[in-house]
Amino acid sequence: MDASDMGDDLERVLLSEEQLQSRLDEIAAQIDTDYAGRDLLLVGVLKGAVMVMADLARRVRVPVAMDWMAVSSYGSGTKSSGVVRILKDLDTDLTGKHVIIVEDIIDSGLTLSWLLSNLRSRGPASVEIATMLRKPDAAKVEVPVRYVGFDIPNEFVVGYGLDYAERYRNLPFVGTLAPHVYGQ
Ligand code: XMP
Ligand code: MG
Repeated sequence: MDASDMGDDLERVLLSEEQLQSRLDEIAAQIDTDYAGRDLLLVGVLKGAVMVMADLARRVRVPVAMDWMAVSSYGSGTKSSGVVRILKDLDTDLTGKHVIIVEDIIDSGLTLSWLLSNLRSRGPASVEIATMLRKPDAAKVEVPVRYVGFDIPNEFVVGYGLDYAERYRNLPFVGTLAPHVYGQ
């Protein structure tokens, strides 16, 4: 899917495919330096992190294992509440492992803050966070994030794993939607 498949649903491109991919080159190089000589487990958060996980994991040169979690945060529509339920847990025992949580976006930070303490309670050697996007103006809790792709304005975005009503996840870029898509 590309911008030309969106008709007039696309308002604007916030981050192009080239911007996303070249930032991932930089983050992967940083991870290679930070984790040299160690085994690493990448934990992707479904479904939004599928794209960043696939592209980041292919760029990293240290050996990695990959596992997935699905969580749902109770709350209305596009707002996160911080009350999190595990829909799919990891298959991997985290004891003694070096873990990076791979996320698409940090908005309020509530979901990730919960996830971080949940994973830390399982006895890993270390847990860090990598996120493609972060909205600093939406932060409700401070989450220590080691790897950030881009800080973006506090607007609802789609593409590169992020959806509106399950659509647009397969856009290779990140953009905003025209108001008529939301029924306005
Ligand atoms: P919190 O607020 O807990 O929420 O950091 C993180 C989760 O909320 C979703 N989210 C978005 N999804 N466009 C989306 O498609 C957005 O702009 C957006 N902001 C937050 C996302 O699932 C993320 O993992
Ligand atoms: Mg997500």
